[in-house]
Amino acid sequence: MLPQIGIEILNELNVKSGRLLDPYCGSGSSFASGLECGITEMYGFDINPLAVLISSVRFTKVSVNELIEAKRELRNNVYEFLKDEKNIETLQRPQITNIDFWFSKEVSDNLIVVKHFIDKIQDKKIKRFFLIPFSETVRECSYTRNNEFKLFRMKEKDLLTFNPDVIGVYLNKLGNTIFLYSNFYFPKLQANTKINVQYSDFQPENESYDVVLTSPPYGDSRTTVAYGQFSTLSNEWLGIDYARKIDGMLMGGVKPKQKIEAGIIADYISEIDKIDNKRALEVSAFYYDLESSINKVAKSIKKGGKSIYVVGNRTVKNVQLPTDQFIAEKFEHNGFKHLITYKRALSSKSMPSRNSPTNEAGKTVSTMLWEFVVICEKNRERM
Ligand SMILES: C[S@@+](CC[C@H](N)C(=O)[O-])C[C@H]1O[C@@H](n2cnc3c(N)ncnc32)[C@H](O)[C@@H]1O
Repeated sequence: MLPQIGIEILNELNVKSGRLLDPYCGSGSSFASGLECGITEMYGFDINPLAVLISSVRFTKVSVNELIEAKRELRNNVYEFLKDEKNIETLQRPQITNIDFWFSKEVSDNLIVVKHFIDKIQDKKIKRFFLIPFSETVRECSYTRNNEFKLFRMKEKDLLTFNPDVIGVYLNKLGNTIFLYSNFYFPKLQANTKINVQYSDFQPENESYDVVLTSPPYGDSRTTVAYGQFSTLSNEWLGIDYARKIDGMLMGGVKPKQKIEAGIIADYISEIDKIDNKRALEVSAFYYDLESSINKVAKSIKKGGKSIYVVGNRTVKNVQLPTDQFIAEKFEHNGFKHLITYKRALSSKSMPSRNSPTNEAGKTVSTMLWEFVVICEKNRERM
């Protein structure tokens, strides 16, 4: 979700204050929108540790001078340490699945050294800040094919010429991260800004939020945007031992016994079921989870409060699933009025815009070219 969409909608709805919730906050674009519109109290949830790290660091105030000083210190320490090759042997190797398959020995050695000096940073906020460019360096210097969400290894012939300068990549990314933070995030964080990001799925709180701004996943992680796979290596280097299980923990990760039989989505799922029962169950898993989450979110919004969901309608087995209508329907079941749904052309999202849903080689259909912004309002009178 682009922060600009959130800004436009919040302005249109004249939301300038109150408590904002994002139950699927990812890297925190809804907070960027909220800050721009004057909202100072925001709460986010996500169950991908890397997402939580990114969104909490971005919106935590930390001295830019101290960041620059810590960068200088880390750089000196790393280069000093690397002067003697034997030093590396004294460091403990991390628990990374198939480390030699994903990293050359030289790359993993250098990553270990960088991580060692990040871990030595005493100030927790600065340390977490330094982990963000580290997580990007892990991905960029690994043998994974870049720009893909799924974890695929480069072609054998490309491995031979792939020899990244880990320390250079890291310091460069750290510099860019400090630049971005000091120019775009830091100036917006006021003394009264309170942005709280939790590593957990959202649990209902009775009527405590004025507005919900979120972009939930488009579908299960296995077949749409594989958030877990994308962050697996980074999460492992950050010490998350269940990194490879994250996709199964995300929405739609657990297959149900029965497909959905009621509501707007049921007919579409029946169409999929005629072709592929397993896919119908997988798709049902996602919508069961989305419904249960909407029930919790709806309960937590104050009367007269708004919910803004930015979603895509994906296609499975040639059947386009009306997720936008599903969301409006479920909010209406929870005592909301569906105000409007905007439809906008999707820009460049890092996900396949075409897939092969029929599994026939060469036969593709477009998955998602439009984004929908579904806006609902909680009824003011008692239900
Ligand atoms: C479309 S992304 C959100 C993008 C976000 N707007 C941003 O700025 O990055 C959806 C997010 O939902 C998270 N997610 C999936 N299932 C979840 C669950 N059950 N509870 C909390 N977060 C979940 C994923 O980890 C992912 O970060």
